[in-house]
Amino acid sequence: MPTLIERGRAAGLPQHVALVMDGNGRWAAARGLPRTAGHQAGARAAERLIRFAGRRLGLPYLTLFAFSAENWKRPAAEVEFLMDLLDQFIEEKLAEFVREGVRLTVLGDPGGLPDRLRERVRRAVEATERNDRLHLAIALNYGARQEIVRACQRAASAASTGAIAVDDLDPAGFARFLDTNGMPDPDLMVRTSGEMRLSNFLLWQAAYAELYFTKTLWPDFTPAELLAAVSSYQNRERRFGGVGGSGA
Ligand code: FPP
Repeated sequence: MPTLIERGRAAGLPQHVALVMDGNGRWAAARGLPRTAGHQAGARAAERLIRFAGRRLGLPYLTLFAFSAENWKRPAAEVEFLMDLLDQFIEEKLAEFVREGVRLTVLGDPGGLPDRLRERVRRAVEATERNDRLHLAIALNYGARQEIVRACQRAASAASTGAIAVDDLDPAGFARFLDTNGMPDPDLMVRTSGEMRLSNFLLWQAAYAELYFTKTLWPDFTPAELLAAVSSYQNRERRFGGVGGSGA
């Protein structure tokens, strides 16, 4: 049976798409609604996208930036709402993930999450660990600099016990200590809402990612928009520091 990566390559798709779901607050404000209504609509957009990516597109890996390590600075009521929304989302979607072959993993520091959500995530990760149709990674309490520091700590600890030799550590060896261990780097990173920055998201893994920015606010981001991003990706020439096809 072909692996996830082989299936993606055969379809000419990016193997891994990472999405910064931005603009929920502005979507709500434009309708005179509270920010929480924007997050609720954002969760429905995420649901549509996951379903489309797995069932229709056959995308092997999808990463969603749901809550950053810096998002704790938001008003307590909004943070609490988002934690409950994510908890409810995973609770509601778990049966579908199991049925549809979606494997859920989480990037970020689970230690900082409310106990209930951490336990919900742990059980969902365990219940879906053998699935291989779509690998869905949700970044939760995630910051790329924090992830890199955690990876350094793990690598240092492995070196101190002799499990690895410091001199043998190279980029691929280091990447095994990141939260994304086992996942390919994102080929395509999409950010909605017109902001053009990475905001501490997958800084190591983004080294050669193609970036796509759209003004669409996250709750309005549709499968058709994802297809537009993929189509833009398919028209890029990726050189990875080389000279590309015409100069070879
Ligand atoms: C950014 O919009 C969005 C977030 C910080 C939260 C992302 C959460 C969701 C899309 C819903 C839940 C996700 C899943 C996977 C179920 P913003 O609030 O920063 O918007 P603004 O920049 O317009 O204020």
